[in-house]
Amino acid sequence: MTEGGVRWGILGTANIARASFLPGLRAAGGRPYAVAGRDEARTAAWAADNQIDHALTGYEALLDDPRVEAVYVPLPNSLHLAWAVRALEAGKPVLCEKPLGLDAAQVETMTAASVRTGVPLWEAFVFMFRPHFATMSGWVRDGAIGTIREIDSRFGFRLRHTENIRLRPELGGGALYDVGCYPVHFASLLFGGAGESAAVLVTRHAGGVDETVSGSVAFGTGRLLFSASLNAPSDTFTRIVGDDGSITVTNPFHPGDRDQITLTRDREGETTTVSAGDGLPSFAAHIAHIGRVARGEEAPRLTALETSAATAVTIDRIRQAGGLG
Ligand SMILES: NC(=O)c1ccc[n+]([C@@H]2O[C@H](COP(=O)([O-])OP(=O)(O)OC[C@H]3O[C@@H](n4cnc5c(N)ncnc54)[C@H](OP(=O)(O)O)[C@@H]3O)[C@@H](O)[C@H]2O)c1
Repeated sequence: MTEGGVRWGILGTANIARASFLPGLRAAGGRPYAVAGRDEARTAAWAADNQIDHALTGYEALLDDPRVEAVYVPLPNSLHLAWAVRALEAGKPVLCEKPLGLDAAQVETMTAASVRTGVPLWEAFVFMFRPHFATMSGWVRDGAIGTIREIDSRFGFRLRHTENIRLRPELGGGALYDVGCYPVHFASLLFGGAGESAAVLVTRHAGGVDETVSGSVAFGTGRLLFSASLNAPSDTFTRIVGDDGSITVTNPFHPGDRDQITLTRDREGETTTVSAGDGLPSFAAHIAHIGRVARGEEAPRLTALETSAATAVTIDRIRQAGGLG
């Protein structure tokens, strides 16, 4: 067993690493061992500010370090493919930020690398590992709302910084990749596969990326109605409607302790409301799972191989329907 927890390395001095990954890592008992960045001085300052043991210049240096046991990839979306594959080839389990790749072909390359190397890869949809998602998917599996006919899900916020990777097409920016991937992933998990066809409305930002994307995607027994925006009031919400009832969640992807899930059973005329929070930082449960896998204490689950292809295929269909490439 590793003294002080599994030693994690972070590729890039990313905001999400500081704001969400590190609090989750600390809560999970992992060790923030190293960060690698493009600029030596900035990386050293970031490491000191965030109490990381080692600052390295260049991402390769981190992958070459045998003491790094697991790697977090919070790079711009266009760089996920290259660096996640290199980390897998270096033999390190990888938690890669969402969206895993820019299209289904990239995701296929990444999951194939995971299979080839025998090293697990996860896409950082951390809600999959949290109790509220287990509760909701358990209700669905147990037939509490009958067959799912519609999932209504939105995720939007107002991006105030003009210098941001989300506004740069060449880095994989845009609302669909940034926040639209959440409703799509949620629906792909609950419907159990990829969406089949899509009708989509797109508003573009002056810089070229999709600023707001909304639409409808047909899935086996029902449909996803979704909305994703980089220029909207901060809001997120999901409702699952089945033949016999519905489930709502106030903050489906990163719930806090004030968020709630509500199950309404139409036949029984019953409503059940429980907290969606678990008192932990949003990333903690996912990181704890990877830590146990890295130590051989648990088999990997909800990996990219199992869950990412359906989402990527659906995003491809939405992009095609919206004229996004
Ligand atoms: N799961 C979630 O809840 C969540 C939330 C927010 C974001 N994300 C995802 O996390 C990733 C990063 O998002 P973020 O908001 O944290 O981005 P960010 O603050 O801009 O960080 C990206 C990092 O990538 C590195 N980088 C390498 N090449 C770059 C380039 N050409 N331009 C800019 N940065 C470059 C930079 O680090 P160095 O200069 O130090 O190398 C930079 O700090 C994205 O994939 C995003 O979708 C996930």
